[in-house]
Amino acid sequence: MAKGRKSIPSVFDIWYLIFGIRCLIFGVLTLFFMKIDIITIFPEMLDGFLGHSMMKRAAEAGHVEFNSIQLRDFATDKHRKTDDRPFGGGPGMLMKPEPMFKAVESVRTASSRVLLMCPQGIPFKQARAQELSTEEHLIFICGHYEGIDERIRQELVDEDISIGDYVLTNGVLSAAVVIDSIVRLLPDVLGGEGATDSESFSVSLLEGPQYTRPANFQGLDTPSVLLSGDHAAIAAWRREQAEKWTADRRPDLTIFPEV
Ligand SMILES: C[S@@+](CC[C@H](N)C(=O)[O-])C[C@H]1O[C@@H](n2cnc3c(N)ncnc32)[C@H](O)[C@@H]1O
Repeated sequence: MAKGRKSIPSVFDIWYLIFGIRCLIFGVLTLFFMKIDIITIFPEMLDGFLGHSMMKRAAEAGHVEFNSIQLRDFATDKHRKTDDRPFGGGPGMLMKPEPMFKAVESVRTASSRVLLMCPQGIPFKQARAQELSTEEHLIFICGHYEGIDERIRQELVDEDISIGDYVLTNGVLSAAVVIDSIVRLLPDVLGGEGATDSESFSVSLLEGPQYTRPANFQGLDTPSVLLSGDHAAIAAWRREQAEKWTADRRPDLTIFPEV
């Protein structure tokens, strides 16, 4: 190359530069950002939940993006049918595979985790909420009617989740429960409003009793240690109360961690 002459970047140089910048932006975004898709035939049930309080603030602050997906938009017939009778007979209707496959495939990427809400699923726990809060993209499948065609679970679902030993009408409420528990654990979502590491279940303990003003209410006193200003004594009292409550109410949790 002649001295002083500037080299002209080739098409490959430019392509690599653009590719590098895109990777960088994507990497930075995915460090702090979660995407949540919720597939249901009742997306409007989610409006109140997603449009208020912590979920709304988390989305507005850019920590999470919610996307409610109307399953009927992926039905192929003119009635936008998403259910059919179960083979072999029996009561109720099942969700058909075709619309669900199309709906999931419309949003799924290599980094997606597909979660099916169902009573037969693995019981949901705080520890699982913590693990799921590190995922980039969650897709929730909300069942309805009698449930889903089994091939949906077989082919599309990474894990199935139950929120308890009872049966709800559809999966929107159970998905909302799981989403709430995950989103509040995302970095910076709670801000100064709550310390999630001392909450119930975070350390195999229930949180103990708490008090706020007034110190005396209708003759009921706040334990004096909480007014003492002695932080070590307060921490010891809280720990003692947490262990007592856990032993009384949830003995199944009593594998107390060391302090
Ligand atoms: C009426 S339930 C189906 C119950 C199903 N026939 C059975 O006996 O297990 C309809 C939908 O509600 C949701 N659902 C109900 N109970 C749930 C639970 N305990 N946990 C998670 N999702 C639940 C699921 O999405 C389910 O597909």
